[in-house]
Amino acid sequence: MWKGRFQQETSGLVQRYGESISFDWRLYPYDIMGSMAHAEALAKARIITKAELQEIHQGLKGIQADIEAGNFEWRASLEDVHMNIESVLTSRIGAAGAKLHTARSRNDQVALDVRLYCRAEARNLITLVRGLQRALVGQGQRWQHVVMPGYTHLQRGQPVLFSHHLLAYVEMLDRDAARLEDCLKRINVMPLGSGALAGSTIVLDREFVAKKLGFDGVTHNSMDAVADRDFAAELIFAIALCGTHLSRLSEDIILWVTAEFGFVTLSDAHTTGSSLMPQKKNPDVAELTRGKTGRLYGNLMSILTILKGLPLTYNRDMQEDKEPLFDSIDTLKIALEVYAEMIDGLKVNEKAVASAVGDPFLLATDLADYLVLRGVPFRQAHEIIGKLTAHSLATGIGFPDITLENYQSFSPVFERNVFKVLTLEHALEARKGIGAPSPANAASELEAWRTRLSLRKPAVKTKSSRNT
Ligand code: ARG
Repeated sequence: MWKGRFQQETSGLVQRYGESISFDWRLYPYDIMGSMAHAEALAKARIITKAELQEIHQGLKGIQADIEAGNFEWRASLEDVHMNIESVLTSRIGAAGAKLHTARSRNDQVALDVRLYCRAEARNLITLVRGLQRALVGQGQRWQHVVMPGYTHLQRGQPVLFSHHLLAYVEMLDRDAARLEDCLKRINVMPLGSGALAGSTIVLDREFVAKKLGFDGVTHNSMDAVADRDFAAELIFAIALCGTHLSRLSEDIILWVTAEFGFVTLSDAHTTGSSLMPQKKNPDVAELTRGKTGRLYGNLMSILTILKGLPLTYNRDMQEDKEPLFDSIDTLKIALEVYAEMIDGLKVNEKAVASAVGDPFLLATDLADYLVLRGVPFRQAHEIIGKLTAHSLATGIGFPDITLENYQSFSPVFERNVFKVLTLEHALEARKGIGAPSPANAASELEAWRTRLSLRKPAVKTKSSRNT
């Protein structure tokens, strides 16, 4: 492509060192789409004729078909996807192909391709995030009545609904989707026409190209446009944070499936056995997802570090943006997919959860609140219930079994109705502030999510229910 100035062939080692075709070949649909739009702008500016535009379009379509049929030979000597496609196009259609690169550089071309790729994949990711949210909401509905201990420091804290716990992840995932949507605003800006760095003396209608390619606008500084990979860094960050959420969910699930917790069972299809210990059923999907967070963070560090010392404008360092970007997107896509499936197949072991949530200490805060509602300052109430807890631990008598006389020896404020506070039903129903886990709140949150994610109501079979 640059044979004019050079007398020597590129060294074989340099070719191997510098090629990106082994990974950037997958940008081909975007490269072709971009070239088609660019050719139209060339025709509009009368740089090429209508007939040449036709030849270019037909030639590119042929190349795309060949690639998709596996009949295209990618050559490392041609370095990257852009030069492979252009070179084969020119060998097939001649002069028209050789005109395609007018007023264009690989610098704005690669910026365009990566943006088109990021746009498509950010949209795919949003769809997959929604799919996992749906699975979580579905399970929340299915086990709507299940009460479980909520933890802080991995110590039993207060009772919550299982659905409330799952909906916490639905919220996190919603922020992930919102972050991806937000990234799309900055991804969807058209850089082509920036040339190598300073535009071109051959002025093309950039807004026309942007419209053709579905961009919301065009970039306004040619130097920034070819040097900018912020949009990729942002996307990789949004992916890394979504990975963090999946990793935390993984950790919950890994704990829940232990014999010690035993709260849930995963389906056989989403667990693996041991080659040695016949009894094992391991939560490998959750562990892998937790582990893969490492590469998502690694990719984020890579992209940030690649960009940090670069002078304007394009530098070849930037070729290193692609592998971390591709890897983050590939990794999160399959993780979201497999997670939605795994969550769908999960079952709650109601007995184990009921036994854990039967721990009376989960209601200690409620007892303190009981005193507060009868005029005791909270700090004092906290101390009284602290002493009561120590008493319960020392005697082995749980809160519901302590006598009223005994309660009154800790505080005269206690009355017979204290025993009403000591039920899970009361504990949950009382938590009716916005965002708290009362059954009514959980039901309306599930309903709201179901509508937002357009889920069908679960089929509840009753005599009178009609098939719809
Ligand atoms: N393969 C290159 C990349 O991925 C394409 C742009 C090359 N431009 C250049 N002037 N060498 O960044």
